[in-house]
Amino acid sequence: MNSPQQELHWWQRGVVYQIYPRSFDDTTGNGVGDLEGIIAQLDYLAGSDDALGVDAIWISPFYPSPMADFGYDVADYCDVAPLFGDLATFDRLVAEAHARELKIIIDWVPNHSSDQHRWFVESRSSRDNLKRDWYIWRDPALDGGPPNNWGSFFGGPAWTFDERTGQYYLHQFVPGQPELNWRNSTVREAMYDTLRFWLDRGVDGFRMDVIGLLMKDEELRDNPPNPDASPHLLANDLFGRLLSVHNMFLPENHERMREIRQVFDEYDERCAIGELWGPLDEWVKYYGAEGDELHLPFNFRWMDGMTWDSQQIRASVDTLEAALPDFAWPNYVLGNHDRARLATRFGGEAQARLAALLLLTLRGTPTLYYGDELGMPNVDIPPEKVQDPQGLNLGIERTRDVCRTPMQWDSGANAGFSPAGVETWLPLTADYATRNVAVQAADPTSVLNLYRRLLAYRRATPALYGGSYTPLDVEQQDCYVYLRATGEEKRLIALNFSAESRTLTIPAGGSGSVALSTYLDREGAVAGETLELRAYEGVIVEVESGEQGLGSRD
Ligand code: NOJ
Repeated sequence: MNSPQQELHWWQRGVVYQIYPRSFDDTTGNGVGDLEGIIAQLDYLAGSDDALGVDAIWISPFYPSPMADFGYDVADYCDVAPLFGDLATFDRLVAEAHARELKIIIDWVPNHSSDQHRWFVESRSSRDNLKRDWYIWRDPALDGGPPNNWGSFFGGPAWTFDERTGQYYLHQFVPGQPELNWRNSTVREAMYDTLRFWLDRGVDGFRMDVIGLLMKDEELRDNPPNPDASPHLLANDLFGRLLSVHNMFLPENHERMREIRQVFDEYDERCAIGELWGPLDEWVKYYGAEGDELHLPFNFRWMDGMTWDSQQIRASVDTLEAALPDFAWPNYVLGNHDRARLATRFGGEAQARLAALLLLTLRGTPTLYYGDELGMPNVDIPPEKVQDPQGLNLGIERTRDVCRTPMQWDSGANAGFSPAGVETWLPLTADYATRNVAVQAADPTSVLNLYRRLLAYRRATPALYGGSYTPLDVEQQDCYVYLRATGEEKRLIALNFSAESRTLTIPAGGSGSVALSTYLDREGAVAGETLELRAYEGVIVEVESGEQGLGSRD
């Protein structure tokens, strides 16, 4: 599908960069990052020729929080945790980012608050409190146990008994994350006002947490057993044993999405992004039947169950393209704070470089995760240092701490993240003395410079940020080739997923020149029908316009 570039919104043309604020830059010397640290690093991200060159940052939660789930347990939707700064710092962050033409996306956690939120404190105080119905309270089952069989994502039952009022409350994450009752219209209005609070302060968009969970079955019926549950699940993994039939993807969610979208539409050019796992046919519905729900349901298809297989990756792109209605804009996420690091998941730096080229040359909005631009791997966390509730409850091999470690700025103490002598909240990678921004900035072929070059190239190339996508069949099953085009401008992307070199025969070959290789050591002419690619090499070829262009199907 071709999209005339002048009609593209910033969130279609642009590239999003996720910042986990605890781990970006610590300016107070307490081992934890803060908003001032993000301000201090804005020049790294945008606004000059040697900046990374992203267009928007999404900042994971910085709200006041007891940190039972590291900020995804919000104690006040309209403030900043003192740990991270205050509202004045946030306002300065918005102004400084906007001065660099960088958009600000923040997290919104509508499904659950913290148990320390004043709404929940009131709600749990008595059965007849006015806010009782703001959360999901139920009497015990006949045997005194939880009202139904639902499990928490983080282990154990999804219900906690509250002695004072003799009822259970629902939480599908830790007990400190009670779930708001989205069937109550007063709750909905209060939550929509929290969106307006930040939209009025100038935020350009929200990433909305677990929006597929908002509405629950009205009768809270038991979920059926999952016949495919892994036999290796821990005894407390009740969630993994059930199919999420009555707690996820309820049709009523769409009514909520439309209401939420209407709040965004009260403002100009704001972007609604939703965190949404799940099957493609459910996922695609969250764009709305008329494009009136999310602008971008996050597409995580490369993060779950995806192996390093060119055909599988191509299929994930092609089925997505085929499933999208005309008004829907694709997007791809390569890493986030909940999954193994890209370099670890796909096997190493060479693969991570190829994945970067893929992400930044497909049709749709890319989202990068801080540190992936350095090729940061998962960090081994010693058992006594594990902090993530998922790791603490479901086994340390499931801890998400591995991908949340401090950003590595230079070769000095604590990689320049925290001052010397401070214990950072999570350890650094073992190779931080060489894997950091300062070292990689000075190395013309580093991963960081690959990202910079790719981002600059994408920004300057309408065929890449706005053009059509056409996959091309090639004989080599471990290669993936596609054409991106708008009008006369054509770019052929060829990716070799194999650990050996490959010689591709390009259908309807012609001539063109390599603009960029993942190894950053190759530019120049390619002629004829063949294209040599080294192990894990990916290239962007500028196809000569005209009928005989390389890869042209005309
Ligand atoms: C999804 C977030 O990405 C994750 O980090 C969090 O633990 C859960 N939602 C609960 O809010």
